[in-house]
Amino acid sequence: MANKRILVTGGAGFIGSNMADELIKSGYSVTVFDNLSTGDKKYLNPKAKFIKGDVKKPADIEKCFKDKIYAVIHIAGCASTIKSFDDPSADLLTNTLGTVNMISAAIKHKTNRFLYASSMTSYGVPDAIPVKETMPTRPIAYYGITKYSGERYVLATGLRKDLPFKFNATAFRMFNVYGRRQSLTNPYQGVVSIFIGNVLRNEKVKIFGDGKQSRDYVHIKDVCRAWIGAIDNPKSYGEVFNLGSGIRVSVNELVKNIIRAFGYDPKKYPVAYYEARPGDQRHMQADISKAAKLLKWKPEIPFEEGMKDVINWAKGK
Ligand SMILES: NC(=O)c1ccc[n+]([C@@H]2O[C@H](COP(=O)([O-])OP(=O)(O)OC[C@H]3O[C@@H](n4cnc5c(N)ncnc54)[C@H](O)[C@@H]3O)[C@@H](O)[C@H]2O)c1
Repeated sequence: MANKRILVTGGAGFIGSNMADELIKSGYSVTVFDNLSTGDKKYLNPKAKFIKGDVKKPADIEKCFKDKIYAVIHIAGCASTIKSFDDPSADLLTNTLGTVNMISAAIKHKTNRFLYASSMTSYGVPDAIPVKETMPTRPIAYYGITKYSGERYVLATGLRKDLPFKFNATAFRMFNVYGRRQSLTNPYQGVVSIFIGNVLRNEKVKIFGDGKQSRDYVHIKDVCRAWIGAIDNPKSYGEVFNLGSGIRVSVNELVKNIIRAFGYDPKKYPVAYYEARPGDQRHMQADISKAAKLLKWKPEIPFEEGMKDVINWAKGK
């Protein structure tokens, strides 16, 4: 494996840094490419080669391919629905143009394996839940549009017959990923870590909407296992997979859970409700049967256990 070098974009961020660690544990060599906009140097694996740069800049990307890259794991991106509405062009440039740039560099350097971080926001308001990969994709958040367009660029490149080699593309529509290293101070992304950060600092918890909206929370370790298991699995080529737990939890339940885990009484802890924000999907739940069938993957970390672990991390344990 050590002769197989994986390029992890966004490898200083929450998902990317965990991915880099797990890849290294599995015996791969890793190059991390990140502009450190939301990522943090302290999460860089010391065994990884770090290249600071921007996916919007082809000259920066070029530096990553000085080594032969076996596969690109493209995780870098703007990961905030809120920010995508505040600054749509920044979101578009990083998520869509950045992905196009990564694909172009992979083609140029004959790297034929490309795995992409897509999102459940690709679905928009689903016709039914649990949502299957075959259901319509009608993103309603600007962020969902850019993540989905990146996904289409990746998969459409995999269909090209004019390339000198077969471009093996896989996209993962990740649901709400949570776990260690998700920022506790970034109010724009990661509902689990936002609430944990609030309770950790004894702040009022702010819920947008009535809190009855539900999400599917999947632990970072389960997510990394799915990606890494897919690298050399031809059944994943040209495919898109939901990565969720398959279980739906309301935001109110999540908040109560977190408050209780910190030893407070949910009935007494201050929680305030605000108007729902644009792009909010009411209910989301993944149908994960495709990943189970083709990747032989299923999530192993129960929500309660995963939450306990991330709260311990937040408390510095
Ligand atoms: N966290 C989730 O629940 C979730 C769900 C679905 C999809 N995703 C996708 O997964 C990816 C990672 O999300 P995350 O939660 O780890 O967020 P994150 O903000 O922790 O990670 C994103 C990383 O990308 C880097 N980055 C941002 N713009 C860059 C640029 N222009 N050039 C190079 N690097 C850049 C950041 O510095 C950061 O390290 C994102 O693409 C996001 O859209 C996340």
